[in-house]
Order: sequence, then structure tokens, then C-alpha cells
Amino acid sequence: MGALVAVDIAIIIQPGVDFPWGILAGTARETGRGAMNVSRRAALSAMIAVASARGQTIATDEEWSTFIAWVRNSPPGMFSNQSEVFPGYQKKLIADGLGSTDAAALAARLQERSVDNPKWTAENFDRVYRQAADRFVKPDASLVEMIRLLRPGNALDIGMGQGRNAIFLAQQGWDVTGIDLSELGVIEARERARRLGARIDARVQDVFRFDLGEKQWDLICLMYFIIPASQPGLYQRIATAVRPGGRVIVEGTGIPPLQTLLAEVDKWLQTKLHVIKLDYREVQGGWGRSTDVPGPHLILQRPV
Ligand SMILES: C[S@@+](CC[C@H](N)C(=O)[O-])C[C@H]1O[C@@H](n2cnc3c(N)ncnc32)[C@H](O)[C@@H]1O
Repeated sequence: MGALVAVDIAIIIQPGVDFPWGILAGTARETGRGAMNVSRRAALSAMIAVASARGQTIATDEEWSTFIAWVRNSPPGMFSNQSEVFPGYQKKLIADGLGSTDAAALAARLQERSVDNPKWTAENFDRVYRQAADRFVKPDASLVEMIRLLRPGNALDIGMGQGRNAIFLAQQGWDVTGIDLSELGVIEARERARRLGARIDARVQDVFRFDLGEKQWDLICLMYFIIPASQPGLYQRIATAVRPGGRVIVEGTGIPPLQTLLAEVDKWLQTKLHVIKLDYREVQGGWGRSTDVPGPHLILQRPV
């Protein structure tokens, strides 16, 4: 069982500053209204009629692939918040002439299919990175701060996105592996690392299928990668994969920031790791923001 070794607890309150999730917020803009031709509308209605007749609660392959094609073709900046994608699609269906009940039912079936679906995660983050090429380049301030105290070793960046933290670690002499479901994120991370002359091993990988190993990593980064409630086993797998004396850094655990950070402490306390730093402050965090102020984060360590 882990322990709260409270060597460093910083609670810095700066009221009135929003948490950074604005990066994911945005206003859904409509695509061209009413542009669907009669045969496509008829085909869509037929598809929905079949799904409804079968009492399906989850989108069919055909419904899903039509939706994904639309996501891929959505213009940059159309959505920056994934929670707006499904209502946005629903609006588009209605604008295209579908009845509002059918459109709502289809959007609900699609959303159901997206839950805990790695293919959707990959699509969704491809969408984010397509719209935000090179936006996420500055390393996280909490990582920068922590790294100053450490001798370089090997690091695993889980859900590394476009590789801002992996590249920074490599530049500091770390031997870095970064994994992400988003192919576009990984391509951009490799490209940027190459441009900067940094060496990273960047792989398109689902962490839930990736062999993390045992006592293998000096550092594991979970930066704005939220462990889903459906995957509680990942905490222990990560704890097992860290070398004795090695660390895990966790930032961006969700909203509301304080409660989700504290809930995260609870989860880690079930593992072998000790919480050596709990840093909570109501400031803008790092994802997509150029800030030198660390966001709320945890640092854990495996006892030697
Ligand atoms: C909010 S982004 C954070 C990216 C990066 N850590 C950063 O701070 O810039 C979360 C990333 O986790 C990735 N991700 C989500 N689920 C994943 C999984 N099961 N395996 C690997 N990567 C995953 C997403 O594709 C996305 O790039």
C-alpha cells in the first residue's frame, strides 16, 4: 500500500483564474446547412429506420463510418471540445433534413459507441491535432521544475500527444519512449523531434495493450492523460513498471481540478507508490497553454 509522504504540499490559490480546459472549449459552428441531397437523406433515413427497428442502442458500423468521415472532413476550428462533436453532428443531421427525434437518437447511439473506444480516442485527438498543429509545443512547467532535481534516466510518456514533454526530456538527456493512440500526434512528435535533433522513440500504441514492464522506468509521465474509471488496473501496472526510486508525474486529472486531484491521490495510495508532492493551485495548467506556472499535479515515487 502506498503512503502520503507529504514532503512537499503546495496549495496556492489564485481566485478568478479559470482552469485550462478552455483549450477544449469552443463554439460549435454549423457546416453548410441543408446541403444534403435527396438520395443521401433517403439513405440516411433508411439506415436509421433499420437501426431503430432492431432496437439498437449503439451505432451500427455504417452509422459510425458515416459519422467518422464527417469528423475527418470537419473544417479546422469547427470544434475544439469533444463534448460538442456529437451535438454538432446532431445539428448537422437536422440541418440536412432529418427529423429531430431521429437525429437525437442517432447522436446518442454514436456517443454510446465512442465510450471507452480507442478508435474514437484516436480519431478525436487526430482531429484536435489537425486543428492545432504545433500548438502543444511548450513542455509542462511542473515537469520542467521536477526534472531539474533528477539525473537523466529512461522515461515513458503515456499519451504523449504531439510530444512536447517527451521532446523536452530527450533534450535534457533522457532516453524517452512516448506512446499515443493518435497517429497524427505521433507523426508530429517524430517530425518535431527530428527538426530539433532530439531522439525519441514515439509509437502509436494503446497504453492498455502496451507492455509497461516491471521496474523498468525511472520516470513515467501522465500529463493530461486521464486514466479512465473503466481501467483501474493501470495504476498498479504503472506502479509496477517504475524502478525503485523512480517517479511518476501526473497532471491534468480532470474537472473540478481539486476534487479530481484528490481522487487521484486515493487511487495511487492503493499502489506501492508514495505521494511525494501534491501541488494544487488554481492557475492555468499546461496543455496547449504557454505558461511557466505549473498546473495542479502529483509526484509519486516508488520506495527504494
Ligand atoms: C489531453 S492529451 C495530452 C497530450 C500530452 N500528454 C500533453 O500533455 O501535451 C491526451 C493524449 O492521450 C492520448 N490517449 C488517450 N487514451 C490513450 C490510450 N489508451 N493509449 C495511449 N494514448 C492515449 C490521446 O490520444 C491524447 O493525445
